[in-house]
Amino acid sequence: MHKFLPLALGTAALAACQTVPPRQVIELTEQEAGGYAFAKAHCAGCHAITANATSPNPESPPFEAVVNTKGLTARTLETFLRDSHNFPGQMAFEVDPKKVDDLTAYMLTLKRADYRPPI
Ligand code: HEC
Repeated sequence: MHKFLPLALGTAALAACQTVPPRQVIELTEQEAGGYAFAKAHCAGCHAITANATSPNPESPPFEAVVNTKGLTARTLETFLRDSHNFPGQMAFEVDPKKVDDLTAYMLTLKRADYRPPI
Protein backbone atom coordinates (compact mmCIF):
# COMPACT_ATOMS: atom_id res chain seq x y z
CA MET A 1 0.00 0.00 0.00
CA HIS A 2 1.44 3.35 -0.94
CA LYS A 3 0.65 6.51 0.80
CA PHE A 4 0.91 9.41 -1.60
CA LEU A 5 1.88 12.84 -0.50
CA PRO A 6 -0.70 15.48 -1.29
CA LEU A 7 1.45 16.96 -4.00
CA ALA A 8 -0.87 19.46 -5.57
CA LEU A 9 -1.71 20.88 -2.19
CA GLY A 10 1.93 20.85 -1.14
CA THR A 11 2.98 22.88 -4.12
CA ALA A 12 0.38 25.54 -3.44
CA ALA A 13 1.43 25.73 0.18
CA LEU A 14 5.09 26.04 -0.77
CA ALA A 15 4.59 29.15 -2.79
CA ALA A 16 2.82 30.73 0.15
CA CYS A 17 5.34 29.99 2.88
CA GLN A 18 8.67 29.72 1.19
CA THR A 19 11.47 30.87 3.42
CA VAL A 20 15.13 30.07 3.32
CA PRO A 21 17.05 28.25 6.03
CA PRO A 22 18.92 30.48 8.47
CA ARG A 23 22.59 29.82 7.72
CA GLN A 24 22.32 29.40 3.98
CA VAL A 25 20.38 32.38 2.78
CA ILE A 26 23.03 33.49 0.34
CA GLU A 27 24.42 30.15 -0.73
CA LEU A 28 21.27 28.40 -1.96
CA THR A 29 20.64 28.09 -5.67
CA GLU A 30 17.09 28.22 -6.96
CA GLN A 31 16.99 24.42 -7.16
CA GLU A 32 18.30 24.02 -3.61
CA ALA A 33 15.80 26.56 -2.33
CA GLY A 34 13.05 24.60 -4.05
CA GLY A 35 14.28 21.44 -2.35
CA TYR A 36 14.33 23.20 0.98
CA ALA A 37 10.76 24.39 0.56
CA PHE A 38 9.68 20.87 -0.38
CA ALA A 39 11.50 19.39 2.62
CA LYS A 40 9.96 21.96 4.89
CA ALA A 41 6.50 21.02 3.69
CA HIS A 42 6.93 17.23 3.55
CA CYS A 43 9.83 16.13 5.74
CA ALA A 44 10.23 18.65 8.56
CA GLY A 45 7.38 17.11 10.55
CA CYS A 46 9.75 14.25 11.38
CA HIS A 47 13.29 15.21 10.32
CA ALA A 48 15.50 18.11 11.27
CA ILE A 49 16.08 19.59 7.81
CA THR A 50 18.63 22.27 8.69
CA ALA A 51 22.09 22.07 10.25
CA ASN A 52 22.50 21.77 14.02
CA ALA A 53 18.85 20.94 14.58
CA THR A 54 17.04 18.16 16.44
CA SER A 55 14.43 16.04 14.65
CA PRO A 56 10.89 16.52 15.95
CA ASN A 57 10.45 12.74 15.60
CA PRO A 58 13.40 11.20 17.47
CA GLU A 59 13.40 8.10 15.24
CA SER A 60 14.13 10.24 12.19
CA PRO A 61 17.78 11.04 11.58
CA PRO A 62 18.49 14.76 11.00
CA PHE A 63 19.16 15.43 7.32
CA GLU A 64 22.60 16.65 8.31
CA ALA A 65 23.39 13.23 9.77
CA VAL A 66 21.94 11.48 6.71
CA VAL A 67 24.02 13.33 4.13
CA ASN A 68 27.18 13.11 6.16
CA THR A 69 26.91 9.34 6.33
CA LYS A 70 30.06 7.79 4.95
CA GLY A 71 29.63 6.66 1.36
CA LEU A 72 26.55 8.76 0.66
CA THR A 73 26.58 10.42 -2.74
CA ALA A 74 24.05 12.37 -4.76
CA ARG A 75 23.36 9.13 -6.55
CA THR A 76 22.72 6.94 -3.51
CA LEU A 77 20.56 9.64 -1.93
CA GLU A 78 18.55 10.12 -5.09
CA THR A 79 18.03 6.40 -5.47
CA PHE A 80 16.81 6.18 -1.89
CA LEU A 81 14.39 9.04 -2.37
CA ARG A 82 13.03 7.65 -5.62
CA ASP A 83 12.48 4.25 -4.00
CA SER A 84 11.37 5.47 -0.58
CA HIS A 85 7.92 3.98 -1.09
CA ASN A 86 9.52 0.53 -0.98
CA PHE A 87 10.75 1.04 2.56
CA PRO A 88 8.88 -0.26 5.56
CA GLY A 89 7.72 1.93 8.39
CA GLN A 90 7.34 5.67 8.41
CA MET A 91 9.30 6.26 5.21
CA ALA A 92 6.89 4.14 3.17
CA PHE A 93 5.63 7.03 1.08
CA GLU A 94 6.24 8.39 -2.35
CA VAL A 95 8.32 11.50 -3.02
CA ASP A 96 7.19 13.38 -6.13
CA PRO A 97 9.77 12.24 -8.71
CA LYS A 98 9.97 15.76 -10.11
CA LYS A 99 11.09 16.97 -6.69
CA VAL A 100 13.79 14.38 -6.04
CA ASP A 101 16.52 16.36 -7.80
CA ASP A 102 15.70 19.54 -5.90
CA LEU A 103 15.49 17.68 -2.63
CA THR A 104 18.80 15.93 -3.25
CA ALA A 105 20.46 19.22 -4.18
CA TYR A 106 19.20 20.86 -1.01
CA MET A 107 20.09 17.97 1.28
CA LEU A 108 23.63 17.90 -0.08
CA THR A 109 24.14 21.51 0.99
CA LEU A 110 24.27 20.05 4.51
CA LYS A 111 27.32 17.95 3.69
CA ARG A 112 30.34 19.21 5.63
CA ALA A 113 33.90 18.01 5.41
CA ASP A 114 34.27 18.71 9.13
CA TYR A 115 30.93 17.23 10.19
CA ARG A 116 30.95 15.40 13.52
CA PRO A 117 27.89 13.50 14.74
CA PRO A 118 26.33 15.13 17.85
CA ILE A 119 27.12 12.05 19.96
C1 HEC B 1 6.31 10.41 9.38
C2 HEC B 1 7.69 10.75 9.65
C3 HEC B 1 8.64 10.95 8.49
C4 HEC B 1 8.50 11.81 7.43
C5 HEC B 1 7.34 12.74 7.10
C6 HEC B 1 9.71 11.67 6.65
N1 HEC B 1 10.54 10.75 7.21
FE1 HEC B 1 12.37 10.20 6.53
N2 HEC B 1 12.55 8.83 8.04
C7 HEC B 1 11.64 8.68 9.07
C8 HEC B 1 12.13 7.64 9.98
C9 HEC B 1 11.44 7.20 11.27
C10 HEC B 1 13.36 7.20 9.45
C11 HEC B 1 14.29 6.12 9.98
C12 HEC B 1 13.74 4.77 10.06
C13 HEC B 1 12.93 4.33 8.88
O1 HEC B 1 13.51 4.15 7.77
O2 HEC B 1 11.70 4.14 9.01
C14 HEC B 1 13.58 7.95 8.21
C15 HEC B 1 14.68 7.80 7.39
C16 HEC B 1 14.99 8.62 6.31
C17 HEC B 1 16.17 8.52 5.50
C18 HEC B 1 17.23 7.44 5.60
C19 HEC B 1 18.22 7.69 6.64
C20 HEC B 1 19.28 6.59 6.63
O3 HEC B 1 20.43 6.94 6.83
O4 HEC B 1 18.90 5.42 6.43
C21 HEC B 1 16.11 9.51 4.57
C22 HEC B 1 17.13 9.81 3.48
C23 HEC B 1 14.88 10.21 4.79
N3 HEC B 1 14.22 9.65 5.85
C24 HEC B 1 14.45 11.27 4.02
C25 HEC B 1 13.19 11.86 4.13
C26 HEC B 1 12.70 12.88 3.22
C27 HEC B 1 13.48 13.47 2.06
C28 HEC B 1 11.44 13.18 3.64
C29 HEC B 1 10.48 14.16 3.02
C30 HEC B 1 10.16 13.99 1.61
C31 HEC B 1 11.15 12.35 4.80
N4 HEC B 1 12.23 11.57 5.07
C32 HEC B 1 9.97 12.39 5.49
C33 HEC B 1 10.45 9.37 9.24
C34 HEC B 1 9.93 10.29 8.35
